[in-house]
Amino acid sequence: MARLSLPALGLLLSATLGLVFGRGTSFPAHSAILTRGADVDAEYDYIIVGGGTAGLTVADRLTENGRYSVLVIEYGPFKNDSSITTVAFGFQGLLDVTNYFNFPSQPQVNLNNRSIGVIVGGVLGGSSAINGMQVMRGQKEDYDRWGSYFSARSPWSWDGLLPYFKKAWHFHPPTAQLARDFDIKYDARYWGTTSNIHASFPTYQYPFLKEEMAAFKEIPGVEFPPDSGAGRPGAFWWPASVDPGPVLRSFSRPGHWDGISSTRRNYHTITEHKVLKVLFDRTKRATSVVYVPSNATSQAGARTVKARKEIILSAGTIHTPQILQRSGVGPKSLLRGAGIDVIVDLPGVGSNFQDHAFSVGATFQLNNFPFPKVEDLYPFGTGNATLIAAAEAQFALNRTGPLSVASGNAGAFLPFPVIAPTTYRAIADRYEAQSAAAYLPAGSDPTVIAGYAAQKKALAKLLRSRDASVYNFFARGTTPESSIVHLHPLSRGTVLFNVSDPFFSEPLVDYRALSNPADLDILVEFTKFTRKYWLETRLRNWAPEEVIPGANATTPAAIIAYIKENLNPSVFHPIGTSAMMPLSLGGVVDETLQVYGVKGLSVVDASVMPELPGAYTQQTTYAIAEKGADLIKARS
Ligand SMILES: Cc1cc2nc3c(=O)[nH]c(=O)nc-3n(C[C@H](O)[C@H](O)[C@H](O)COP(=O)(O)OP(=O)(O)OC[C@H]3O[C@@H](n4cnc5c(N)ncnc54)[C@H](O)[C@@H]3O)c2cc1C
Ligand SMILES: *[C@@H]1O[C@H](CO)[C@@H](O)[C@H](O)[C@H]1NC(C)=O
Ligand SMILES: *[C@@H]1O[C@H](CO)[C@@H](O)[C@H](O)[C@H]1NC(C)=O
Ligand SMILES: *[C@@H]1O[C@H](CO)[C@@H](O)[C@H](O)[C@H]1NC(C)=O
Ligand SMILES: *[C@@H]1O[C@H](CO)[C@@H](O)[C@H](O)[C@H]1NC(C)=O
Ligand SMILES: *[C@@H]1O[C@H](CO)[C@@H](O)[C@H](O)[C@H]1NC(C)=O
Ligand SMILES: *[C@@H]1O[C@H](CO)[C@@H](O)[C@H](O)[C@H]1NC(C)=O
Ligand SMILES: *[C@@H]1O[C@H](CO)[C@@H](O)[C@H](O)[C@H]1NC(C)=O
Repeated sequence: MARLSLPALGLLLSATLGLVFGRGTSFPAHSAILTRGADVDAEYDYIIVGGGTAGLTVADRLTENGRYSVLVIEYGPFKNDSSITTVAFGFQGLLDVTNYFNFPSQPQVNLNNRSIGVIVGGVLGGSSAINGMQVMRGQKEDYDRWGSYFSARSPWSWDGLLPYFKKAWHFHPPTAQLARDFDIKYDARYWGTTSNIHASFPTYQYPFLKEEMAAFKEIPGVEFPPDSGAGRPGAFWWPASVDPGPVLRSFSRPGHWDGISSTRRNYHTITEHKVLKVLFDRTKRATSVVYVPSNATSQAGARTVKARKEIILSAGTIHTPQILQRSGVGPKSLLRGAGIDVIVDLPGVGSNFQDHAFSVGATFQLNNFPFPKVEDLYPFGTGNATLIAAAEAQFALNRTGPLSVASGNAGAFLPFPVIAPTTYRAIADRYEAQSAAAYLPAGSDPTVIAGYAAQKKALAKLLRSRDASVYNFFARGTTPESSIVHLHPLSRGTVLFNVSDPFFSEPLVDYRALSNPADLDILVEFTKFTRKYWLETRLRNWAPEEVIPGANATTPAAIIAYIKENLNPSVFHPIGTSAMMPLSLGGVVDETLQVYGVKGLSVVDASVMPELPGAYTQQTTYAIAEKGADLIKARS
């Protein structure tokens, strides 16, 4: 059994898995969906594999001028039930296990051999249908670093992406009253207002958030940029992907698909079908896609559909590399081991795997806490019936109040020199002095090693920078409070198909958590900083008591023992397995998102991010999709 170790969500999940909150309304399936392979045309201009966050965004853009025909093939079903649409508490999508993939990772040798549940969306809308709805951007440096692996003039940079961040999101400011009460700053110049993907603020915030945000003012070096759109680190408020009219989750399906697929006759969607592989002609042009019903257990009955112009893989970081590898595009030794013909030996496919690590700081219980807790409002058996009834009545009446809050809107994204002012240089120097191959998987290809060498140099710089963030505290306004995220893990994992069963087994997902020892150096500093935050600021007035790992865990060894037992290497933000990097640096796609060594095949999803941004990944994924669609149209 995969183990979910998510303290911040733990209460919610452990109390509620299997239960469904809300009115349980079911909606009829949308008429435009094809559910049978027999209904699919023989050919389309474009085939998009995966109707998730990026896939549906690209499909909308490619079909809007009516000139091209598009087929989207999505593994999961169309669903529109309350687990997906409900905003309250942010994670109700996880309450219905049919909304997502969840299978065990490879045992993590540095985490006492624990396996972690690999969770990604598996419905039309993909991970955007189940995510926590937090919307932040990351720092200017993050995007300039991406471009730097190509050239100083790369179109992948802060300036190159800013127009697409604006195109991708429709920003709605907080109400004047909320902004005043909570000192919420925002700057509409960094946002757009044309997208159907909405970023908005709830009408309510937990009162203790004022204290948690104010405490950052007492920490030297913390900046307070207007909002995450500015590309600066610091303490700030961010919106949620919520449509503020009906107060429902805003995600790729309602934003880029509902009401479109049925009116654009050039656009077909087939759900509950899984793509096995891409086929190529003798010139290595991708010509068609082979797919089966999602519940198939063999290739009997597989169908093939042709693409006249291009095939676009948008199956996400976990499944896109698996599809490439099955198609003969990947590390040749892996492919040969499974008897797959090698179309291109592309060693980077499935390497460079990264995610944000979670559960890495110290958890504090506040013994003097006169406020309502988030948990008091959970309608799952642990809450306060009086408070729940009041919140439900208010939400039913006018869609305001605590049930309009998703998983949070405030916190800090802090530079390493702010976290570890006396040790950051030594830690960065020690990391930079490592040999690039030292902590990568044994036998890594020289190009993959060269890519990591380039990243290592840039990441060492990041560890010394005051313009980037490494530590994230996402405030929940409650107690106990423990939401610490490592934004730039230095360890690199792999996502490789299962050689014994490439087509019908999930891939082998190995986070290789803490394989680079510098991550532990960083995480120990996170714990020390988190203690200072609670014990040496105004927060001490609320009688904080460290419950995990406990004030007695004072030595690095004790802190490390705790981290190994508790760290979760994923907070559901996997990236990097089809990295946009030069071929000589282990890249999989070029700056136009086309796969190296073949024609007519591109990747547009979170897997192309060469490195994590200092932010959660949905805002960036939508921006990549918008930019990717323009690149595809430009070469049509
Ligand atoms: C539980 C959870 C919470 C998150 N919370 C946040 C948050 O609060 N803020 C934030 O910014 N980000 C968050 N994220 C991350 C963010 O949602 C993702 O980074 C982003 O949605 C990824 O988009 P994508 O297009 O790469 O992949 P996805 O949206 O996952 O789309 C991939 C699609 O491909 C389909 N597919 C897979 N294999 C096949 C196949 N063989 N054939 C056909 N279809 C296939 C899948 O079913 C899926 O629909 C969260 C993610 C999760 C899972
Ligand atoms: C999805 O559900 C919401 C209500 O929760 C409804 O307003 C919307 O029309 C539904 N969308 C579709 C495509 O059925
Ligand atoms: C983890 O598993 C490996 C291989 O099975 C074993 O050698 C090692 O001792 C285990 N480590 C722990 C901490 O259990
Ligand atoms: C898959 O699902 C379809 C539709 O529900 C069903 O008819 C079929 O028998 C299932 N196939 C397998 C192999 O379970
Ligand atoms: C529930 O909340 C109300 C209002 O804050 C409070 O008066 C009551 O004591 C709480 N009940 C329990 C069981 O904690
Ligand atoms: C919504 O209803 C609540 C009562 O439950 C009320 O206090 C609040 O002012 C209302 N807000 C709006 C915007 O109507
Ligand atoms: C790999 O596939 C084989 C054969 O189906 C299966 O027995 C094994 O459990 C799979 N391994 C993993 C880690 O999923
Ligand atoms: C700290 O104290 C707790 C509770 O008394 C105990 O469980 C834990 O093992 C101790 N940890 C260390 C590092 O001594």
